[in-house]
Amino acid sequence: MQENRFRLKDILKKDLNRFWDMQAKTEGINTIGIVRKLKLILKRPVLMKLIIFRCAQASVFNKWFPLLGIPVRMLNYMTSIILGIQIPVTTRIGGGLYLCHWGTIVVSKKAVLGENVVLFHDVTIGHEKGKCPVIGNNVYIAPGAKIFGEITIGDNCKIGANAVVNKSFPADCTIAGIPAKIVKRIESVK
Ligand SMILES: CC(C)(COP(=O)(O)OP(=O)(O)OC[C@H]1O[C@@H](n2cnc3c(N)ncnc32)[C@H](O)[C@@H]1OP(=O)(O)O)[C@@H](O)C(=O)NCCC(=O)NCCS
Repeated sequence: MQENRFRLKDILKKDLNRFWDMQAKTEGINTIGIVRKLKLILKRPVLMKLIIFRCAQASVFNKWFPLLGIPVRMLNYMTSIILGIQIPVTTRIGGGLYLCHWGTIVVSKKAVLGENVVLFHDVTIGHEKGKCPVIGNNVYIAPGAKIFGEITIGDNCKIGANAVVNKSFPADCTIAGIPAKIVKRIESVK
């Protein structure tokens, strides 16, 4: 994600492609047709939320005209309250973000998330003493994980359900427990 110019079209394309891939994998099929994609946008509130969230980000980063920007940000704010997903629009999150379910997802404004991050419900990525985590690309964060402080999570890591992550971890490992430790090294990740 670029600092100055937020490319809404590119980032939404990555988010949606990621969602279709994950959905196809869950359903055990190769591709999802256009009609089903449209139905999914209407049926999966997290997908709708993600689209609204990205538009709200674009409205801030690209300084949209207030008549358009303010309603988009208000819609984002209302859907955040309804779905319990609290991610500030200025949080830097790469494309391909996958929100699986709604419900108590909290990400700090200063946290940085790479590309293709999976965020489950009850996840918190927050600050400690004003410092926030930097999460790499392709990181899977299972339900209930709490990640906080000035730490770095390497690419391709999997963070186990209910893990409490308070220190940095290198790429390609599965982390779990309280406090989180490496429970497995990932040999090859696709
Ligand atoms: C993070 C996760 C994906 C790891 O998967 P993985 O890389 O295949 O790792 P494994 O399952 O082989 O586990 C490796 C070891 O860590 C342990 N472990 C895995 N997840 C753990 C967790 N959340 N807490 C504590 N230990 C855990 C396993 O028991 C195993 O220990 P062992 O080697 O002594 O048998 C998975 O464990 C997990 O937490 N998934 C969440 C599933 C879930 O909540 N689904 C509901 C979605 S709605």
